[in-house]
Amino acid sequence: MSGGDNLEFEIRPNPAPVGDAERAALLANPGFGRIFTDHMVTIRYADGKGWYEPRVEARAPIPMDPASAVLHYAQEIFEGLKAYTLPDGGVAMFRPDANAARFAQSAQRMAMPPLPVEMFLQSLHEIIEIDRSWLPTSDEGSLYLRPFAYASEVFLGVRPSMEYLYLVIASPVGPYFSGGVKPVSVWVTPDYTRAAPGGTGAAKCGGNYAAGLSAQAEAIENGCDQVVYLDAIERKYIDELGGMNVFFVLDDGSLVTPPLTGTILPGITRDSVIKLAERAGRKVEERPVSLDEWRTGSASGRIREAFACGTAAVITPIGKVRSAADEFVIADGGTGEVTAELRKQLVDIQRGRADDPFGWVHRVL
Ligand SMILES: Cc1ncc(COP(=O)(O)O)c(C=O)c1O
Repeated sequence: MSGGDNLEFEIRPNPAPVGDAERAALLANPGFGRIFTDHMVTIRYADGKGWYEPRVEARAPIPMDPASAVLHYAQEIFEGLKAYTLPDGGVAMFRPDANAARFAQSAQRMAMPPLPVEMFLQSLHEIIEIDRSWLPTSDEGSLYLRPFAYASEVFLGVRPSMEYLYLVIASPVGPYFSGGVKPVSVWVTPDYTRAAPGGTGAAKCGGNYAAGLSAQAEAIENGCDQVVYLDAIERKYIDELGGMNVFFVLDDGSLVTPPLTGTILPGITRDSVIKLAERAGRKVEERPVSLDEWRTGSASGRIREAFACGTAAVITPIGKVRSAADEFVIADGGTGEVTAELRKQLVDIQRGRADDPFGWVHRVL
């Protein structure tokens, strides 16, 4: 057992871990979400019993009954965060307490039992510790951690499951967008919306992403990297991208980002950007921005920069916007100054290269 106060994780080391040479070859070019470490965490839940059997074990397929509730009604939630190698060789996670809190909120929305925050944090400590050799040491690399939980009860009735399985898997990753940081193009989908008021937009549940795949395919068909969603009611205001929040930088140096009204994911990177920008004396407004404001503002120069942000890609400039009606470029279509500055500040804090005024860096080793 390690970490925590009273959570006894049973450790069952993988009897056949990947060898040093093979692991080094995999780490040389990990891509994103394709390779995985030797272990996983599992914790079970049953109504009346609570969370039990916390365990670290060899990563392996999960036996699943075809009537498991998740396969039918998609009662599932997940998180995504990264661990980094620090300059002194140690390892840290970025704001894992915020992911723990969001995981609990997602659970609440999906009628699932919340995993205690300490258990969530310790599960991450455990997998980092046992799979430490999988942490990339390169400048751009990190260990992506994927905690998730799903309804495991074998029952076809439509009601909250009485049993759940929580797991953590880990994947060494390079940059999210191949080719490094360069502006992305976004497609404003005319046909699909991501979330409506009262829906699950603010929860990190698998169903939100399943529902977004056709829109993302449409973006690719239209020559764009990512889909951008408009609000579900007026089809007028920018909500977010398929997997990232959006910011606009105005000509007075202030920032604008869509508000958290329940239809967008409350991004931890979004929150970090707001705090960093405000600390630098920039005004940050959380208010609706219409596609029309984005279009006319880009043409007039009122909107100088736009960027997307999220754990996977950190901060990525948006160079071009394409819709069914037209296409426009933000400034010269390159990476704006404020975007680059915020990205550098955030990455330097995450990787322990700069002061951490907000206490975001959570050292593990
Ligand atoms: C739909 C969506 N929006 C925004 C984000 C950004 O959230 P975070 O900064 O917490 O990674 C994500 C996840 O990365 C996402 O899936």
